[in-house]
Amino acid sequence: MSSAKSIQVPVDASRLPMTLPRLAEMKRLGEPVVMVTAYDYPSARAAEAAGVDLVLVGDSGAMTVLGYPSTVAVETDEMLVLTRAARRGLRTPFLIADLPFGSYEVSDEQAVATAMRFVKEAGCDAVKLEGGNAMSVARARAIVTAGIPVMGHVGLTPQTSTALGGYRAQGRTSAAAARIESEALALQDAGCFSIVFEAMPTAVATAIMPKMDIVVIGIGAGPATDGQVLVFHDLLGIREGLGARFVKRYANIQDEMDAGVAAFAADVRTRRYPAPEHDYSIEPEELERFRRDSAA
Ligand code: KIV
Repeated sequence: MSSAKSIQVPVDASRLPMTLPRLAEMKRLGEPVVMVTAYDYPSARAAEAAGVDLVLVGDSGAMTVLGYPSTVAVETDEMLVLTRAARRGLRTPFLIADLPFGSYEVSDEQAVATAMRFVKEAGCDAVKLEGGNAMSVARARAIVTAGIPVMGHVGLTPQTSTALGGYRAQGRTSAAAARIESEALALQDAGCFSIVFEAMPTAVATAIMPKMDIVVIGIGAGPATDGQVLVFHDLLGIREGLGARFVKRYANIQDEMDAGVAAFAADVRTRRYPAPEHDYSIEPEELERFRRDSAA
């Protein structure tokens, strides 16, 4: 684990909000793009304080904060609550929200209507959708045509992980790698401003990168992509287990939370809490009057 404690958090009040031209410029200059997920006010504040470039209200929040067994159950209204909370914690990062499973597949009209809710009701800058088949590409094109920036997502796409054979790396045969490449190019052609490459061999992502004009954000796709994303709860250790192979843990917050709540419980049970320093006072004459009146 890297020492998170040794890194100074650069709080830069003069930092300008991230824009699409600035993002494209970062790619052109070869500046690594930092993206992290957030699902509420405190996680968004942490992203803001660290000066990350992109914040994703991922539907991974279905599992990390809402406790669902997978991402498929989460509803648009639930994602909107998470997104509005994250929005309130952000000033400079570009905010993207995941369109949840079932909220965009049915028709272009459904996709545009859902994307508009995220922009109008939650203040999103862009939306993300999963997959690069003809349906996903059509939906991406429709949303872009409606004026809303879209981020694509290929490789391991958790919303359809059952069809992919589970949460496993993709693109490990020549045919599967070629499919990822053609999906990525189709999403680029549809007007996506960026795309996530998730869980695929480094060599495959590296081979596709020269064909990508848009910003590619990797998660388990090696170092060749333009930027990297990790799930907030994974990188901070706010969950049990180690997670996927690509997760790097920078803190063990779950252990800290467990220990903190256990210490509180022990203090209450042994009457060590509350202590005198937690008391509120009352003037003696007021207390005397209260006792007298109360006894009457
Ligand atoms: O939902 C999510 O958090 C994501 C990221 C892993 C890219 O899609």
